[in-house]
Amino acid sequence: IDIKKLRGESGGLITLDPGFKNTGSCESAITFLNGEEGILRYRGYAIEDLAEKASFLEVAYLLIFGELPTQQQLDKLYADIKKESHVDEEMKKILDGFPKSAHPMGVLSSLTSALIAFNPSAVNVDSEEDMYNAIIKLLAKFPVLVAWTLRKRNGQPLDYGDSSLTYVDNILKMMFKKPSENYEVNKVVSEALNKLLILHADHEQNCSTSTVRIVGSSHAGLFASISAGISALWGPLHGGANQAVIEMLEGIKQDGGDTKKYMQKAKDKEDPFRLMGFGHRVYKNFDPRAKIIKKSADDVLNSLGIEDPVLDIAKGLEKEALEDSYFVDRKLYPNVDFYSGIIYRALGIPTEMFTVMFALGRLPGWIAQWREMRLRKEPIGRPRQVYIGENHREFKDINNR
Ligand code: ACO
Repeated sequence: IDIKKLRGESGGLITLDPGFKNTGSCESAITFLNGEEGILRYRGYAIEDLAEKASFLEVAYLLIFGELPTQQQLDKLYADIKKESHVDEEMKKILDGFPKSAHPMGVLSSLTSALIAFNPSAVNVDSEEDMYNAIIKLLAKFPVLVAWTLRKRNGQPLDYGDSSLTYVDNILKMMFKKPSENYEVNKVVSEALNKLLILHADHEQNCSTSTVRIVGSSHAGLFASISAGISALWGPLHGGANQAVIEMLEGIKQDGGDTKKYMQKAKDKEDPFRLMGFGHRVYKNFDPRAKIIKKSADDVLNSLGIEDPVLDIAKGLEKEALEDSYFVDRKLYPNVDFYSGIIYRALGIPTEMFTVMFALGRLPGWIAQWREMRLRKEPIGRPRQVYIGENHREFKDINNR
């Protein structure tokens, strides 16, 4: 490397780290992650404990405000959320404008952006109180948008759910209640969703979270920052992997279930195919969330009496990868999304909605990271580059090129 090229205008050095593999963008007190040992903690609490013992709303409070809530604090949070759960009727017209075939992530990101127009007070947040109000509005309205996105896709009338239910059960009801039916929340489904949302709730400076922080660093506002985060999450190398995993597993099943053939494809450097749901930028031994989720997939399928051959294909691929030097050498293990799609499917959630469910789970993490960034008064995010283009060139008229 020519050291002169690394010099910035000020004469200082510019570090070059494509993909930010070794670059910290901020200091943060929210999530601790040790990729070598497979440790994940939110505000110091082990993910295993939270997934087993806490509710999603408790975890949201923990991530955003730093402590596990007392019952009183949790009740107040939920009471505040319920007061803000109405979404402006005009928003329904925006939803109506989308074709039924629109990808739910595009719909969700657009609707989240559109919320700004109907909640202008949530844009300029100069005090902690303003911030709190914007956060409550989003925690209240986002699940409604998620449910509307699904109902639009299913051609069902929109619904506001039932405020007598818990936060998660209300989401289920908003999503699945049919017009002429009394919806009873299934305990297995509710517990599984609670767990999945907790496991996805934060993961330090991943692609979408970094997006939220960097957009928020220009003081663009909470809703705009989250909308950008949703777009970042959409890609198959990030949150979109859960959809891609099921599509891949179904493809393998339809192709006769020959997992070895697909292992070979994944190893072939001439073939762009990757084994979706394998590998992680940070976890190089195992993803602790994948461990919890694998067991949960078994439990949910058993409790609901579902036999899913796709689960067998998933287990087969995992076993083969664990014994294959390509995957072992590169430390490629199943990540959280390898098994999450199987559970979402068992819960009756269409494949295209999987990444939307991920966004629903990640919302408190994005909010917590945005709030931390604003409270710490972080400067605008503005990476530098190492220029490798042409030097000065003389302009030529279009007729002379
Ligand atoms: N299948 C086959 N080979 C893989 C895979 C895979 N899933 N993942 C990585 N590799 C290989 C690469 O080809 C590369 O091989 P090489 O050294 O011979 O060139 C090596 O492993 C390192 O891969 P990178 O892409 O450099 O690793 P990086 O840390 O940049 O990427 C990522 C991590 C994006 C998760 C990657 O493993 C991947 O694409 N996985 C599949 C998609 C996926 O599951 N994403 C979800 C991530 S978790 C989440 O967002 C919630």
